[in-house]
Amino acid sequence: MTPASPWLGRAPGRVNLIGEHVDYAGGRVLPCAIDRFVTARGDRAERWSMESEIEGGTPYLTALGHELGVGPQRVQVTANLPAGAGLASSAALLVALARGLAPGLEGARAALIGQRAEQRATGVMVGAMDHFASALGRRGHAMLLDCSTFEYRQVPLPEGIAIAIVDSGLRRQVSSSEYGLRRQEVLSGDARRVRHVESENARVTAFVAAMESGDLKAMGELLGLSHASLRDDFEVSRPELDQIVTRATASAGCLGARLIGAGFGGSVLALLEAGAEARFEAHLEGRPVQFCQSADGAFA
Ligand code: GLA
Repeated sequence: MTPASPWLGRAPGRVNLIGEHVDYAGGRVLPCAIDRFVTARGDRAERWSMESEIEGGTPYLTALGHELGVGPQRVQVTANLPAGAGLASSAALLVALARGLAPGLEGARAALIGQRAEQRATGVMVGAMDHFASALGRRGHAMLLDCSTFEYRQVPLPEGIAIAIVDSGLRRQVSSSEYGLRRQEVLSGDARRVRHVESENARVTAFVAAMESGDLKAMGELLGLSHASLRDDFEVSRPELDQIVTRATASAGCLGARLIGAGFGGSVLALLEAGAEARFEAHLEGRPVQFCQSADGAFA
């Protein structure tokens, strides 16, 4: 394939509303692309090179180049999406590169190519949720994705909610975390890990029903239950994340909160009643809070 030169691609990060640590087990997930982006600009070059605000990105670039069968490129990357914060910056980088290098790709194919490139670059068998959300998310919606078939449908976000992200400041790299170990434990049938996967899948179904009936209270409660399961059965939380969840949940106008992404650090998602943002931020006492909106994916 011969990409245009120069080229430009941009792709969003995501929050996952619910369905955590189930994608690699063929479960259902409900991510929402957000208005925080990675932008990549590139040109044909003699050799592969990348200047990036996202650390450690060059192996992703060469892995994606290999998957797409394109020759060397010189690439510059900018981002307003923090890395290691549980917002899928690496998937956004890969999808932005795919959009720039191969804009005609079908979105689901771009997502699966991004997943394979990430697995190749890191050696970690990550699931496909993040790449699908970044490629095919839709503004005003969360994406209900079945990771056994990769069929999906867009579920409208109910009126009257706001999305807050509280950064724990704990950084982790998927490759150095226990992510691979958890995946192994699930696939080998460890009872407690499987109990998380099964209960989380049931919570996704219940959450979608609550979204569709506008039951904000039930949505919030399911977030709390998801966090407890990730903490107790799946053991991917950290005391700092638990403290943020407890503090956030106690704030007036907060519907519920939980850790998002791989865990072991990163961010907490809180769903708020719209209008409660300022009170929530004050209640979090100086912890970094970002409010975000849903966004369109790079191939939407
Ligand atoms: C990381 C992975 C995803 C998914 C989540 C946990 O973000 O990249 O594929 O497994 O962790 O839900």
